[in-house]
Amino acid sequence: MAPEPPLLSMSGITKSFPGVRALDGVDLDVQAGEVHCLLGQNGAGKSTLIKVLAGAHQPDTGRLRWRGEEVALRSPIAAMRLGIATIYQELDLVEHLSVAENVHLGHEPTTAGFVVRGKAARQSTAALLRRLGHPEIDPARLVGELPAAQQQIVSMARALSHDVRLIVMDEPSAALDPDEVDNLFRIVGDLTAEGVAVVYISHRLEEIRRIGDRVTVLKDGRAVAVGLPAKSTPTREVVALMTGRNVEYVFPERPTAPAQQDTPLLEVQGLARQGEFEPLDLVVHPGEIVGLAGLVGSGRSEILETVYGARKPTSGQVVVDGKALKPGSVRAAVRAGIGLAPEERKAQALLMLESVTRNVSVSSMSRFSRAGWIDRRAELGAARAATRELSLRPDNPSVPIRTLSGGNQQKAVLARWLLRGCRILLLDEPTRGVDVGARAELYAVVRRLADEGLGVLLVSSEVPEVLGLADRVLVLREGRVVHRAPARELDEHRVLDLVMEGSPAS
Ligand SMILES: Nc1ncnc2c1ncn2[C@@H]1O[C@H](COP(=O)(O)OP(=O)(O)OP(=O)(O)O)[C@@H](O)[C@H]1O
Ligand SMILES: [Mg+2]
Repeated sequence: MAPEPPLLSMSGITKSFPGVRALDGVDLDVQAGEVHCLLGQNGAGKSTLIKVLAGAHQPDTGRLRWRGEEVALRSPIAAMRLGIATIYQELDLVEHLSVAENVHLGHEPTTAGFVVRGKAARQSTAALLRRLGHPEIDPARLVGELPAAQQQIVSMARALSHDVRLIVMDEPSAALDPDEVDNLFRIVGDLTAEGVAVVYISHRLEEIRRIGDRVTVLKDGRAVAVGLPAKSTPTREVVALMTGRNVEYVFPERPTAPAQQDTPLLEVQGLARQGEFEPLDLVVHPGEIVGLAGLVGSGRSEILETVYGARKPTSGQVVVDGKALKPGSVRAAVRAGIGLAPEERKAQALLMLESVTRNVSVSSMSRFSRAGWIDRRAELGAARAATRELSLRPDNPSVPIRTLSGGNQQKAVLARWLLRGCRILLLDEPTRGVDVGARAELYAVVRRLADEGLGVLLVSSEVPEVLGLADRVLVLREGRVVHRAPARELDEHRVLDLVMEGSPAS
């Protein structure tokens, strides 16, 4: 008997956009029941490749075989009919429709040829949500009201509502905390046990070790390694393939002398928001990086947004340079030198229709305007300097920001605050979606900014990141600080214990 052909094989796939060759002759084969990981730096072409696979982009050249037979995926529907489902990096749900409507969008359940709406759709959605380990999500809720992690579950329910043979996940874990990642991996395990193939994209190498079978590495639109064993290929080798150099995944050194302790830059005094977080006191001195560790839902983002003035506190105040800011005023916060790089960058931070330049300069426009005229050369020059500092790709700030890869969009948000010259930087999940090589650069930039006298308040779900980058750490659980310590006195286990079941600090 001839050996089974792979479930999917792509060969010689190329795809160009104006000025960029995103894919340049990529080969990929995926077997039924395997987890095939795609790795590569920001802009390497991962999302473009899976959009070709999802029928969302038409390749310029190349072939696709499905169970040995050549197919053309002319539309997302064609891919869906074969049993290919995709969970995108930037979720594509309709916010003003309910969970059940999103799950069944384009293929309402039918009985005897009649579309069944309402109750039947809600019941089948509820069954899918149970299977995904999230029975608490109400199928009748509007998707726009759900937090990011639950929206992703909805996206997954939509994928499973079809008879799926191959499921593609583009950075699914980026918005999840450790418990939810475990749940995701359980789902992946169930699917592969049933013979479903999974194509998995992540910047977290430890995840690829945990669930991956094989790894394909993309670099500059080419597959530089195809189908390496996921568990046994040394990290050094994987990183070298991705970056073309040897990068150490290291954190910058902390200054030998601790930051000046007598003149706080930022003081948060008894700040609270009812139902979100309890009265919080903290100080950030110039030169200091303070980290907030905690699970999704522990109030971390809410705290940053309240300090930034985007939410009004129920009590307490934010003090900069000894002066209390008007509560709930972003304008007052920005004027005092506070900058926020938010978690949901697409929805909250980016002007998707504008260029990279404008996205970077938008908070510093007064520097480039004279009597109503914008000095575009100065604006472009400044944006270019800020984006180079973060190795943003492509190295052309005139392109629209929506054409950038996920990780590079994130870098643009950070470049904005670099340019703004703010003195207090609030960073919410700064490396979500940022590749290994660029992370090290980003950490170095943040530390350098601190060395130059900035104060940084950092939130991250990745405990090693908080411990590696921050000087001092506050551990949060359900809106309350349960522990405070210098970062070097903590380790990952201790922090995870505290965030899961810590008792309040005395
Ligand atoms: N619609 C588009 N128009 C123009 N250029 C695009 C478009 N989509 C992607 N690109 C470019 O193609 C290249 C590959 O992007 P892609 O989104 O596939 O990267 P990625 O590997 O998914 O990166 P990340 O890890 O940051 O998400 C990038 O240079 C990107 O700017
Ligand atoms: Mg991507």
